[in-house]
Amino acid sequence: MTDDPTTNENDQRRTTGRPDDQVDQTEKQHEDTEDTEGPMDTGGARRALVTGAARGQGAAIVRTLVAEGYVVLACDVLADELAAVAAEAPEQVVAQPLDVTSEAGWSAAVAVAKEKWGGLDALVNNAGTLHRASLLEEDPAAFERAWRVNCLGPLLGLQACVPLLRSGNAPAVVNTVSNAALRPFDRHVGYASSKWAARGLSLSAALELAELGIRVNTVLPGPIATPMLSPESVPRISSFVPLGRPGEPPEVAAVVAFLLSDASSYLVGAEVLVDGGQLLRTHL
Ligand SMILES: NC(=O)c1ccc[n+]([C@@H]2O[C@H](COP(=O)([O-])OP(=O)(O)OC[C@H]3O[C@@H](n4cnc5c(N)ncnc54)[C@H](O)[C@@H]3O)[C@@H](O)[C@H]2O)c1
Repeated sequence: MTDDPTTNENDQRRTTGRPDDQVDQTEKQHEDTEDTEGPMDTGGARRALVTGAARGQGAAIVRTLVAEGYVVLACDVLADELAAVAAEAPEQVVAQPLDVTSEAGWSAAVAVAKEKWGGLDALVNNAGTLHRASLLEEDPAAFERAWRVNCLGPLLGLQACVPLLRSGNAPAVVNTVSNAALRPFDRHVGYASSKWAARGLSLSAALELAELGIRVNTVLPGPIATPMLSPESVPRISSFVPLGRPGEPPEVAAVVAFLLSDASSYLVGAEVLVDGGQLLRTHL
């Protein structure tokens, strides 16, 4: 295999420089075995990797992309929930165990995408973790954990996936940040600081990767009704969000799908607030 990401496996077979008869023999062997060993022909379907896909917004993103005809490598640490999401569309979704803080885990996930589909066109860095702690109460290990999942995870995802995305079709990345990366988030120092960093990472990546033809954009959700949000907090949230309710996961997933699609082909480094107008309150 070559490391040149602009060369896909089929091109390689044509450019090995071997004598023609040897190439013919190899072509013949490939034809004989491609039904069982080569990447699956996705019929032009876009190929996406989504993290944090076992529940909440990630599961909604998987469902939305499936409805749009994508094939999806759905990744998470929650094996049972992930398997249930994948089972909803077994022809289009492959469940892949992945801890986004693990470089080896990312290598394995990317290898699966390459083996199954020959590459990737889209990456959604959605996995995240929240914990509440004030400045003076924050535990260093919990602080570091938030940073590892919420900021290091997207970095490792980009590093692992860019070689495949470079040769993908209209490649695009969406990072899920938070509207907590645009304001102070009271008594959530680990989460808020990790999301501010993830926002900076996303903008830097948008700049660098645009030169490679890969668009990077972010969504910044406000309160969304997922397991991350405690049910007890919903009445309080409803009172301070101008729309009067938390968002639903498909409302974020629709924006993610738009940012991955050709409909957003000139958007680079966009930061799309999906928060029911919550941040507008800060202007009052
Ligand atoms: N729900 C909200 O109110 C809200 C608001 C702003 C931003 N966000 C962000 O949206 C994203 C999705 O969160 P959600 O609301 O769906 O919450 P959720 O808790 O339902 O889902 C998060 C998912 O990420 C997975 N995950 C956590 N650590 C992981 C790791 N190390 N490797 C792989 N997967 C891991 C979890 O298992 C879970 O499936 C997160 O990045 C979160 O920070 C959520």
